[in-house]
Amino acid sequence: MIANAEALFRPLRIGKLTVRNRVMSTSHAPGYGKDGKPQERYQLYHAEKAKGGIGLTMFGGSSSVSPDSPAAPWNQVSVADDSVIPYFQQFAERVQSHGAKLMIQLTHMGRRTRWDTEHWLPTISASARREPASRSIPREMEEEDIARVIADFAAAARRCKEGGLDGCEVSAAHGHLLDQFWSPSVNHRTDGYGGSLQNRMRFGFEIFEAMREATGGDYPIGIRMSGDELFAEGLSQEDCITIASEHAKRGLVDFINVLGGQARDHLAHAISLPNMSFPVAPFLHLASAIKREVEVPIFHAQRVTDLATAARAVAEGHVDMVAMTRAHIADPHLVRKLQAGREDDIRQCVGAGYCIDRIYTGADALCIQNAATGREATMPHVIAKSDQKFRVVVVGGGPAGLEAARVSAERGHEVVLFEKTAALGGQINIAAKAGWREALSGIPRWLAAQVQKLGVDVRLNIAANAETVLAEKPDIVIVAAGGAANPGFEPGSDLVLTTAEVLRSGMNLTGSVMLYDGMGQHNASSCAEFLATRGALVELITPDRMAAEEVGTTNQPVHLREMTKLGVIITPNLDLLEVKRENNRLVAVLKNTMTLAEEERIADHIVVDFGTLPVDETYFALKSQSSNHGQTDIPSLIAGLRQPHVGRGGFALYRIGDAAAGRNIHAAIYDALRLCKDF
Ligand SMILES: Cc1cc2nc3c(=O)[nH]c(=O)nc-3n(C[C@H](O)[C@H](O)[C@H](O)COP(=O)(O)O)c2cc1C
Ligand code: SF4
Repeated sequence: MIANAEALFRPLRIGKLTVRNRVMSTSHAPGYGKDGKPQERYQLYHAEKAKGGIGLTMFGGSSSVSPDSPAAPWNQVSVADDSVIPYFQQFAERVQSHGAKLMIQLTHMGRRTRWDTEHWLPTISASARREPASRSIPREMEEEDIARVIADFAAAARRCKEGGLDGCEVSAAHGHLLDQFWSPSVNHRTDGYGGSLQNRMRFGFEIFEAMREATGGDYPIGIRMSGDELFAEGLSQEDCITIASEHAKRGLVDFINVLGGQARDHLAHAISLPNMSFPVAPFLHLASAIKREVEVPIFHAQRVTDLATAARAVAEGHVDMVAMTRAHIADPHLVRKLQAGREDDIRQCVGAGYCIDRIYTGADALCIQNAATGREATMPHVIAKSDQKFRVVVVGGGPAGLEAARVSAERGHEVVLFEKTAALGGQINIAAKAGWREALSGIPRWLAAQVQKLGVDVRLNIAANAETVLAEKPDIVIVAAGGAANPGFEPGSDLVLTTAEVLRSGMNLTGSVMLYDGMGQHNASSCAEFLATRGALVELITPDRMAAEEVGTTNQPVHLREMTKLGVIITPNLDLLEVKRENNRLVAVLKNTMTLAEEERIADHIVVDFGTLPVDETYFALKSQSSNHGQTDIPSLIAGLRQPHVGRGGFALYRIGDAAAGRNIHAAIYDALRLCKDF
């Protein structure tokens, strides 16, 4: 077991409440709310963490208390009227029956939201200062607004208590209304709610006093706040310590949940949700500094991805409760596995940020590597044994093939996996070569270790063809051979290199490189950073309006920052028409997607990213001999039923992941899980 593990297993008292251990998940908005309520999907998602041994799970990130803080933009929860109480009661029972505690985060987003949704009400704030990230210019709150919002917080707290929740936290982090009042960068008021820090704290004090009164005084209420806004015009570390101490001293809060930074613009938002480019626990010291000054329990989340760091943070007294929020999205059973001495079975969060990035496109939070998370009603976190035993052959050892092998072996089948290279991991091995994305390699590392533990017969360096596969006398064949880089279809595509070729070989390109990003994903930006770091003069050209347009909000700013620092020129709105050779150099013919005017670039090298095309030779060689002609029965797949041809003589053939069509890691792993869990 890891050092200091016992520190995590000690119960924690929060007022009269006892939490069974020191591991929690902080509130987050996964986009699972339905009609403003936490319904079955949302509840099962948190119940899974409770089953997995977590002490405290907080749901309802940014749950709104007032109609002018709309719940609609990210499918959030509204606590603005009593209709939510029965959902809370059902939810609390579901989580508490597994021994965990359940709390919610309440907030008014102030200017950090949109006015063009739900009730179309103007946004409000301490002063009429625009937030760059959310883009609205708020209306300055009048005294009546202040009184109304205070009353809304009090009513929401009462609903939490009546709903049987174990407590609630008010968000004053990430630039919500309460910290908009605190921050001198937003609050320019001249009345009793502006000016000195004491005045700027008044609104918050009145909120907590009203919440205490509405809930009888001993109901657990806490605050989430920054320990340093890391922004010159914002709150300093000293300000934050004063704020925390004042709230604790006045008996207004039972716990303080500390994070680092704020989220007023794109980069700040990315820093507040540190991805794999950051070290582990980058802001633990800010929580620790507040803990030294106050008596109430201190919580902290921000890239604590492994239990050894978590245990150290508690054992050394930096925090009382450590949050592993994305770590639980990646593996909701991590506490149970630690207790059982199965740390090696924990699927560790790699910090890809796929979960958070999806919600800013209006989608639901999903984990890049764990396709069961958020799909608890249909996808198992623990794979049950099958009632039949099959011989399964998997072709390809990338994420799709590894997950197919893992799930099939967990079902109790006999599994052979062929991989044509010397290493498992597929295209992840290429992506992980690029600068700050190395941690992606954790995904295949975990899968490979599981597959090995489950006794899968892994055969490396074998490019399996139809003959090799049939020699195994399979019942089921799964082709997961991945995708090969698409060189593009323009005249001159034989003259270019692909990003995959550059990264795989680690080739050093000297001179000028024109890098054409036809996809807007990580690959081209990663490759640009890779080449520029090694001294090439790189221009990244894209037909999109911005580089890495498909990359989400916590990752794209990191690419943009790195490329800018490395001197990469970014040119949007250009389509690649043709590449030709002139003397020793290459000429790209480009067309502006806005003006339709043509222009040219001369470069020493042209590198392109057009995604991948399926590696499907083995699939087509086997198709006519298979019992199902290689067809996945889509209604059965969607209904979660075994594929109709399996076990009825001959072999059934399927293709998954990029071998079917180039998509992403999550799609590859989901393809595998949902197909193989029913064999
Ligand atoms: C999908 C998602 C949505 C989030 N939404 C919120 C939110 O509404 N309010 C909040 O305070 N934090 C939110 N967070 C931040 C988390 O509470 C936490 O601070 C963050 O994930 C860093 O902790 P971790 O590294 O343990 O994941 C969100 C995180 C994720 C992944
Ligand atoms: S998507 Fe990435 S950051 Fe989010 S939980 Fe999964 S591994 Fe962690």
